[in-house]
Amino acid sequence: MSLRRKFCKPRYLVLLLFALYIFVSRPVPTPAEQRPDQRPPNLNFSSVVQELGHTRSIEPGSLTAVLPVTLTSLTNLLTTLDPLLSPPSCVSKVLLVCPESLLSQARAVVRQAVRSSPEASNHPDVLLYPWPGDPTVAVLHAATQSTTEWMLLLDETGLGAVSARTRDALTCPVTADLPVGPRGVIGSPSNWSCAPPSLETRPALYLLPPFTLPGSLVQGHHENWSDLGRAVSQSREDQLGGVVRSFGDPDFNWCNDGRQYSTPTTDPTLLASSQEDPNSLFVILLPNINDLRFIVPLVCRLHNSALSVKILLYSESRVTSEEDIFSGCQFQYDTIWSTERLVSSMIYDWLDRMGRKADIIFTVSEPATQSLRSEHATIVRIPRQDLEHVHWMGSLSLVEWKNWHVPQLEVNIITQDRPQSLERLLGSLSQARFFGDSVSLRMNMEQSSDLETIRVVDAYQWNHGSVFTHRRVVHGGLLTAVVESWYPHSNDSYGLILEDDIELSPLFYAWIKMGILRYRYGRARNETAQLFGISLYQQKNVELHLEGRKALNPRALFANNHFPYPSTPYLSQVPCSWGAVYFPEHWREFHAYLAERLSELTMELERVVVPDVRSNHWTKSWKKYFIELVYLRGYVMLYPNYPDFLSFSTNHLEVGSHVKDRPKEKLEVFRRPLMDLSVSEQLLLDLPGETLPRWDVLPVLNLTGVLTSLEKIRVVN
Ligand SMILES: *[C@@H]1O[C@H](CO)[C@@H](O)[C@H](O)[C@H]1NC(C)=O
Ligand SMILES: *[C@@H]1O[C@H](CO)[C@@H](O)[C@H](O)[C@H]1NC(C)=O
Ligand SMILES: *[C@@H]1O[C@H](CO)[C@@H](O)[C@H](O)[C@H]1NC(C)=O
Ligand SMILES: *[C@@H]1O[C@H](CO)[C@@H](O)[C@H](O)[C@H]1NC(C)=O
Ligand SMILES: *[C@@H]1O[C@H](CO)[C@@H](O)[C@H](O)[C@H]1NC(C)=O
Ligand SMILES: *[C@@H]1O[C@H](CO)[C@@H](O)[C@H](O)[C@H]1NC(C)=O
Repeated sequence: MSLRRKFCKPRYLVLLLFALYIFVSRPVPTPAEQRPDQRPPNLNFSSVVQELGHTRSIEPGSLTAVLPVTLTSLTNLLTTLDPLLSPPSCVSKVLLVCPESLLSQARAVVRQAVRSSPEASNHPDVLLYPWPGDPTVAVLHAATQSTTEWMLLLDETGLGAVSARTRDALTCPVTADLPVGPRGVIGSPSNWSCAPPSLETRPALYLLPPFTLPGSLVQGHHENWSDLGRAVSQSREDQLGGVVRSFGDPDFNWCNDGRQYSTPTTDPTLLASSQEDPNSLFVILLPNINDLRFIVPLVCRLHNSALSVKILLYSESRVTSEEDIFSGCQFQYDTIWSTERLVSSMIYDWLDRMGRKADIIFTVSEPATQSLRSEHATIVRIPRQDLEHVHWMGSLSLVEWKNWHVPQLEVNIITQDRPQSLERLLGSLSQARFFGDSVSLRMNMEQSSDLETIRVVDAYQWNHGSVFTHRRVVHGGLLTAVVESWYPHSNDSYGLILEDDIELSPLFYAWIKMGILRYRYGRARNETAQLFGISLYQQKNVELHLEGRKALNPRALFANNHFPYPSTPYLSQVPCSWGAVYFPEHWREFHAYLAERLSELTMELERVVVPDVRSNHWTKSWKKYFIELVYLRGYVMLYPNYPDFLSFSTNHLEVGSHVKDRPKEKLEVFRRPLMDLSVSEQLLLDLPGETLPRWDVLPVLNLTGVLTSLEKIRVVN
């Protein structure tokens, strides 16, 4: 255990008395304090911003976080410590500044935090540092004691109120020679204001925690945050006290001047749900309080958006709540208690009393609400057993909810003579959650399919929609089998193409639906014509180099290139054949292209369309031709980018028409861990700002895994 105890030494006792002496009658500093006017800073801010964009992240292990603990913050200390102790982060040391009276309690919490920290052997050291009185002074003083090159200064809420993206930027900051953080005071000393969230980086008079800075800047004595900012600005030619970088994320109520900054000025789509029309009404109808508890994170998220949310529990014997507190958020609900026969009329009454029409009605599939109809509202009925897996829906915007029933998924399985593989795939399909949606299934058997395969197909029970089985009479081969396995019948029909050696995650449908609703039906829907599909499978290699397979680690690649959130999903031109959804327009176009290409009317079959890619040597491969189309058109596919390459599909690489042998090493190259239900709540939303990013900020990789942009790949042809 690397928890070191550093207290009750005489040195601290002296400091303690000294501090008491100084701070007994000091007023609490606020950013609102006006300072005597100085000459306006001579800013050349553009060069600072340019530098910030180009600098590297600091070395791992070179950052000390300083966190004050107060009587009120002690209760949440365990939660507050968590992001500081969890990888990935550059924090090597956490200094907890804490009044003597709270030391033993703080120590107990630290022990617990260290014990439950995910990488027990490799977490930062946690040191307790006794200091009485004002937490700001305590932090500024403790910071002078640390020896690491970089400091992260916090207030008692730690990183609790900032977005995941900002949190990442703070726990592994760029090497800037001045304070950088999301909260700051801007303007001139005589006319200052708190910086509202913005996508732009802005010059600041001084910053408020949390922010990072080089350790050398806190070496002197500083009274308060503005004092530190002034010292920084006086040491610089450009007179900057720091820079504000909030990535446009909303941040609540941090500014002591009483104003609230919840809506960013420049970034409406990234924060789809916080920009909703407050006149929109989202209604939740559930049987009872236990059902409600399952979806608390979803309800909290809806509450934080501007939507009005009304909740009715229609077979709950407890009385209507004033305002119940659920883990971390407060909301009201109404209750009724009635016989089953009368429930639906009572629900209609309750809806009428709302005085306006609901836009969305979220409920469970149950007899009591099955007959519910609405001309205006989109009714979303979730099977009760899926309720505990709906957290991801909190990322949906109103327009995405309204399109809930529009996209139709068609699952297409291609099989020949691997009945065990097919059984495993079908088994994983049965385990998947479809959230009440109807999904059709088509199973395509080759002419050479064996009796056992046909038996498995016959015996399979599909409970989510129609089943269609198809068997060839003339052998077609894999190219024909895949390409002909699906043809869209409308622009809202989506084809999931699965060969039988694939296995699915139970959450694959949530990932698909979240992506389709966001990029095909959300606000960006008119900008995403280049998107041809969504992969369930996470790439770990680039297959298309002429020299052979090369490792790819998107998270590391994005981090090295200073993407603010390296765990963002991304776009890649590579079509995935190991579990992916294809979009109707692009698949239709592919059919047309392939027919033309194979007919050899306009070019000979051997013609190289994409220069210098390995797929040119593939024969009888549908993917080779899809790669050509993608290259000619500048198309891209959306890929997940969860930790440890967690995926929604994996490939077992079994002997088949393209695979002749399967050495163990090769197997491991292709297998991925599947995202399972037990971790779903946290992980599906492990996304920048817990939502799928805005279309135009997604990183783009070309066919050989090089970072590029949508504009660049569009002009190829
Ligand atoms: C911050 O410290 C400076 C320097 O001691 C002092 O003049 C100023 O009044 C302080 N501001 C606040 C808000 O306490
Ligand atoms: C500010 O910095 C930029 C980039 O370094 C430079 O091009 C520009 O000339 C500078 N402007 C002034 C007024 O110094
Ligand atoms: C203070 O700053 C704001 C915004 O920067 C500006 O609109 C306003 O005119 C300024 N007020 C004075 C008195 O300079
Ligand atoms: C489907 O999309 C294609 C391509 O964008 C378009 O040409 C066609 O008119 C659309 N069909 C319908 C029924 O909207
Ligand atoms: C997208 O385009 C359609 C037709 O061109 C238009 O009716 C619609 O308003 C557009 N949607 C958005 C969000 O711009
Ligand atoms: C990907 O981009 C790199 C760098 O621009 C380029 O060298 C390479 O040829 C591109 N790959 C393809 C397949 O276009």
